[in-house]
Amino acid sequence: MKEKLLKLKEEALAKITDAAQPDSLEAARVEYLGKKGELTQILRGMGEVAPEDRPAMGQMVNAVREAVEAAIELRRRELSAKALEAKLGKEKVDVTIPGEPVVTGRRHPLNIAVGEMLDVFTKMGFDVVEGPEVEYDYYNFEALNIPKDHPARDTQDTFYFTDNVLLRTQTSSVQIHVMENQKPPIRVVAPGRVYRSDAVDATHSPLFHQMEGLVVDKGITMADLKGTLENLARMLYGEEAVCRFRPHHFPFTEPSAEMDVQCFACRGEGCRLCKGEGWIELLGAGMVHPKVLRTCGIDPDVYSGFAFGIGLERVTMRRYNIDDLRLLFENDLRFLGQF
Ligand code: PHE
Repeated sequence: MKEKLLKLKEEALAKITDAAQPDSLEAARVEYLGKKGELTQILRGMGEVAPEDRPAMGQMVNAVREAVEAAIELRRRELSAKALEAKLGKEKVDVTIPGEPVVTGRRHPLNIAVGEMLDVFTKMGFDVVEGPEVEYDYYNFEALNIPKDHPARDTQDTFYFTDNVLLRTQTSSVQIHVMENQKPPIRVVAPGRVYRSDAVDATHSPLFHQMEGLVVDKGITMADLKGTLENLARMLYGEEAVCRFRPHHFPFTEPSAEMDVQCFACRGEGCRLCKGEGWIELLGAGMVHPKVLRTCGIDPDVYSGFAFGIGLERVTMRRYNIDDLRLLFENDLRFLGQF
């Protein structure tokens, strides 16, 4: 028995020191110390040893087991040290190799232009608000004094989900939400997406962006409207920007106007950019219709207000000399990288 044990020990230690891989080391461990391993079997067989020999035998078996365990642990450390060394050797870093350029993202030109405009308005004391893009007929049309038979409600012009729910065609819907929830003084701008059933071309897209402005307080007049919007035009097109207001019609403002800026390419002479007009249309605006104020629970005999709506693609295109609206939506990195 003693001899058998010593032989086993020698064999095991040899196998362990010879193990070149963690796998073969593990195999050796199982072979001797595993549930069905040889040493385990011997320990199990202790019952058959004569009682007087048992303590000495037990001690010997345990000594062998400890020696084998220690050898395995030692070998395991050696193997992992070797593996680490090999790995470090392979992963040597050549610090002289030139780095790869990192491509940083840029802001979309539309967002740059909107950010600049929001800057101007927040400095004038406006809050920035948002409204839903999926809207009830009431907010997009009805409360804005656009009656049921108005041509803007045609399915040709508007995306409907149901008779009553649609994609908003204008950010003017946000005016109603604001006036429902807030009493004057009100001074807000609301940028966002709007939708119209248009085919895509160089100047049209079924999805585009507007920024709505709304001011309601006691004693607000057309002069406040003009001052505010001229301030915006100067920021966008420089101190010398010249503006003009043309009478226009919107159902939710009275009086209504469109504001043009003098063409900065030809200074009003007429050129390709302004299509010979000398002026470029910038936005729609007007004094909030008393009916709209009343619908929102604001007394038009006490309060008055002005509102305006700006097409943001148009502003961005002029600002950066972009001649095709589609460029703003295609996300071609060669284009976007220029801003
Ligand atoms: N909502 C109008 C449009 O889409 C613009 C506008 C807004 C006009 C506010 C007047 C007041 O054309």
